Amino acid sequence: MAKAQWQNGGSRSIVRSGINPGGYQTMLDIAFVRPSLPKSGALVLLVHEGEKPSGPWQHADEVTGGAIGRALEVADFKGGKGKTVTILAPGADLSRVIVIGLGKPAEITDQGVTEAGGAAVAALSHDGTAAIATGTLSSAQAADVALGAVLKAYRFDRYRTKEKPEDKPKLTKLTVLTADTAKARSVWESNKAVADGVYLTRDLVSEPPNVLNPAEMAERCKKLTALGLKVEVLGPKEMQKLGFGALLGVAQGSANEPRMVVMQWNGANGNGGKGKAKDKPVAFIGKGVTFDTGGISIKPAGGMEDMKWDMAGAGTVVGLMAALAGRKAKVDAVGLVGLVENMPSGTAQRPGDVVKSYSGQTIEVINTDAEGRLVLADVIWYAQEKFDPKFMVDLATLTGAIIIGLGHEHAGMFSNDDGLCQKITAAGLTIGEKVWRMPLDDAYDKQIRSDIADMKNIGGRPAGSITAAQFIQRFVNKKPWAHLDIAGMAWSSKDGPCTPKGATAFGVRLLNQLVADHYEG
Ligand code: BES
Ligand code: MN
Ligand code: ZN
Repeated sequence: MAKAQWQNGGSRSIVRSGINPGGYQTMLDIAFVRPSLPKSGALVLLVHEGEKPSGPWQHADEVTGGAIGRALEVADFKGGKGKTVTILAPGADLSRVIVIGLGKPAEITDQGVTEAGGAAVAALSHDGTAAIATGTLSSAQAADVALGAVLKAYRFDRYRTKEKPEDKPKLTKLTVLTADTAKARSVWESNKAVADGVYLTRDLVSEPPNVLNPAEMAERCKKLTALGLKVEVLGPKEMQKLGFGALLGVAQGSANEPRMVVMQWNGANGNGGKGKAKDKPVAFIGKGVTFDTGGISIKPAGGMEDMKWDMAGAGTVVGLMAALAGRKAKVDAVGLVGLVENMPSGTAQRPGDVVKSYSGQTIEVINTDAEGRLVLADVIWYAQEKFDPKFMVDLATLTGAIIIGLGHEHAGMFSNDDGLCQKITAAGLTIGEKVWRMPLDDAYDKQIRSDIADMKNIGGRPAGSITAAQFIQRFVNKKPWAHLDIAGMAWSSKDGPCTPKGATAFGVRLLNQLVADHYEG
């Protein structure tokens, strides 16, 4: 059968920022300009509580004969956080004026500002161009407004062939009005790299599982060499040689070969990611199950399509590495992803099989649907053997149980290091990706004792997310480590402030912030 033209990076591609290997989703064009009234298009005004009209706000009110002031009065708008008023065709060739409240000046946070950028885009989709006046915000905050706008403008429309032009969002260009445009542009340069990373993660997670199999995902990782990352891909033969029995056991039921991808960014030496690492690197490890049927312990049919995003942990690590490289972060970082497809077949592993992991420990596979931990076991051990990292953070859509426990508001965090936990928690609060620490304890570890091997891969119904984390901890060799169970966070059924529904890329901004706050320079 002929391959559809969009498969494997087909001909329709427009390369976005050089790093999007799928290359089909274009980013909103951002410009920073000193405050002035736009001649046409839409105008967005960001306004805090108690602010008096000045600059573009005052000017727009004058040229529209007081239309804005009247509308705000009628709407009883005071500038409260998230309050939005839209005035259509107010005159002076403006298509619309949107006024967005920032709340009380003392309570404005960088994330609040970013979300105001998202709110602007949500209110704007019918205008082709818009200017956004950032009022009393700093020029660095103006760059955060742009970040929120770009994050919210994401769309995955690669497979739509029949969308009517009038149904497509029109906004292509956003001009951010701010006094110190040089400052805004320099902050935007790094914000844009992070947004590129988020887009890349969302693209990977959104891709259907017939397109994004392990080999295809590894190909897309390879394209990151354009950013200065060193990218190595290991196939089944190499992994066999190393003794990756746990990962390969999961992969053996699929016609699609597994891969492990190792991405290195040596930014601490100032050589653009190349050359020797200065210090022990920080390590990020992702679960990349490109489709999880459950294997022989097969899942029920209803909702199984969701398991295309069982590679979100890996997708997040890839987007994070792209973000760090894109903004030339002064850090030595490694990203490792284990890529497999979990299928039932005549060659699939059976419940009851015993496999030998790369660490040497043996595992009795009681349930083939508890596959993520088997993949992570080998990749985590490899990360330690090869890189002796300063610490490790793994990300995985690991358990349905974490969704029962924490819903879609927090990722579950499990760790052997209080300091690392505090840093991750704080980074999450800064950028609006929340994590909640869950316990680890020898008492839970007992649940995964096996009668015939060193451990079994499930611990029964009670504390399912914790026993999964205990399993992973058995492959942590005296290293600071945190495990983020992102099963409830990687995909959203509803729109968020800076995330359209679908793939969220939860973790990219979080771990980028962790690095920026503590491990650079
Ligand atoms: N990928 C799933 C976990 C998952 C479930 C992620 C729902 C996102 C949404 C994982 O591989 C899995 O199947 N876990 C099992 C573990 C069980 C067999 C011990 C689960 O959570 O049911
Ligand atoms: Mn599973
Ligand atoms: Zn899974």
